[in-house]
Amino acid sequence: MKKILILNGPNLNLLGTREPATYGSTTLADVEAQCKAEGERLGYAVECFQSNWEGALIDKIHEYGRLYKSGEALGCVFNPGAFTHTSIALHDAIKGVDGLPVIECHISNVHAREEFRHHSWVSPAAAGIVIGFGTDGYLIALGGLVRKFGAKN
Ligand code: DQA
Repeated sequence: MKKILILNGPNLNLLGTREPATYGSTTLADVEAQCKAEGERLGYAVECFQSNWEGALIDKIHEYGRLYKSGEALGCVFNPGAFTHTSIALHDAIKGVDGLPVIECHISNVHAREEFRHHSWVSPAAAGIVIGFGTDGYLIALGGLVRKFGAKN
């Protein structure tokens, strides 16, 4: 069974209690359980990883770049948190692994928020973007990844 990575960046471990008016009350553990169940339904093994450290996220993208090349992974759903707006290194990591489809996902509609959230360094390297659907966005991104890049397409 091919793998799909659900990758979450800084502060997303606080989902459920962090600014619930913006991010909702669903916890990261809930999101991860939903993604695993949906992945299984679609025929994929979902791995979930969260880190507050930029380098750990980069290492995970490199690992999945290798798994993609060996045919063991389909792609990745990635919420880079605030690193979205600051990290050229994450942009370069996605470009650098050359091929791994990464769907960028944001819980909130970043374009309806502060101006500093309007720019994403990740978007130009992403295969698709899901923004503003709350935590359902992870499932939408997962479904979109499979529809666009899965075996039957
Ligand atoms: C976020 C939006 C970012 O601007 C913010 O820094 C986050 C979460 C979202 O999912 O809406 O940490 O990526």
